[in-house]
Amino acid sequence: MNIGIDRLSFHTSNYYVDLKTIAEARSVDPEKYYIGIGQEKMSIPSPDEDVVTLAASAAYPLMKDGELDDVELLLFATESGIDQSKAAGIYVHGLLEMPSRCRTVELKQACYSGTAGLQFAIGFVARNPEKKALVIASDIARYELGSPGEATQGCGAVAMLVSANPRLMAIEPECGYYTADVMDFWRPNYRSEALVDGKYSAMVYIHALLESWKQYAELSNRTLADFDRFCYHIPFTKMAEKAYQKLAQKLKFKMSKEESHALLEESLRYSRITGNCYAASMYVGLLSLLETAEDDLAGKRIGLYSYGSGCVGEFFSGVVQPGYREFLYTDQHRNLLENRTKLTYQQYEDIFNYGVPTDGGEYVFPQYKTGPFRFSGISQHKREYESLVD
Ligand code: COA
Repeated sequence: MNIGIDRLSFHTSNYYVDLKTIAEARSVDPEKYYIGIGQEKMSIPSPDEDVVTLAASAAYPLMKDGELDDVELLLFATESGIDQSKAAGIYVHGLLEMPSRCRTVELKQACYSGTAGLQFAIGFVARNPEKKALVIASDIARYELGSPGEATQGCGAVAMLVSANPRLMAIEPECGYYTADVMDFWRPNYRSEALVDGKYSAMVYIHALLESWKQYAELSNRTLADFDRFCYHIPFTKMAEKAYQKLAQKLKFKMSKEESHALLEESLRYSRITGNCYAASMYVGLLSLLETAEDDLAGKRIGLYSYGSGCVGEFFSGVVQPGYREFLYTDQHRNLLENRTKLTYQQYEDIFNYGVPTDGGEYVFPQYKTGPFRFSGISQHKREYESLVD
């Protein structure tokens, strides 16, 4: 029995800042961002958007299509948690009016937790083949203004329906994973911006890839020649490209720069204009590949590398299913990405500095352009959400 990703839907903020705007403000050559790190725009969440609204908006098309009726497991992967106790997935469960017979939990391990969710969901479906799981990865990447990480912010959520006989991608059983206790990126509970040792994190990302690949290759007997495309975790698009090149070099796998670029390029298109979505990033990459590749990917094997600082890496693979294009939300996603509002530098900084009140008072937040749900206010320390659809 094949198990894997049956549907995949995405949401990001309706606002973005062009990295040229950041470059001007920081007196940096814009080519450093456009070419050096391979990023063009980053999505900025409005004050009435958070990981819950991004997630619920991502999963909303699945609800509308009646795809959530058989879901009995909801895994919410994030490193932008809003509560130390209550799982963000429970708010989403409520907003999407999902059946109460459902296990709901939040997962954390930096940008890796979406993959942990996917693998746990596959285990659940293996035991309950007639049931489905919903895995949502939702994050807001935030670094201090003026820091090296600033240009690698972004936000977005991906909702994945996991089932037997999936219509998009069957996940193969072999995987290689790797854990090491390192401090390359972290965010203590008292901070709203992440701390990162950027150069070190790039080294650890690559080391974890080499180690994960080793185990995957031993278990599967596959070589790089067995893959048609790759999707890597994308903190910034250059990182994914560099890591693949390092792996190929290490394995003495001969290919030109152009050939190597072509294996990843389609997977990087969405991230280049949304920025880092942490736990959702690799899955934004997968969507970008499935939705923008011109050739039919049915039957093709995709290599997937997930990385979360701290750190955990995992290399695994999936095979794209026949007829997959019919089950994508390509037009909706393109429409969203093409119709966002560009922020000025001042608007970006004002939104960045808008903090959620913490005094337990009553607050109603101004309405910005969001998806079908918004974070409408806060009352006595309780977050309030509003559905903008019937
Ligand atoms: N034109 C073209 N390229 C340029 C350039 C210009 N004018 N100026 C600089 N560059 C290139 C640099 O050569 C470098 O490329 P290289 O890495 O191939 O050598 C790249 O742009 C970045 O420049 P650098 O000086 O290294 O940038 P930085 O010190 O400001 O930081 C990061 C870059 C990526 C380390 C930083 O943005 C960061 O920490 N991001 C977060 C990383 C992260 O998310 N890690 C956690 C998960 S993996």
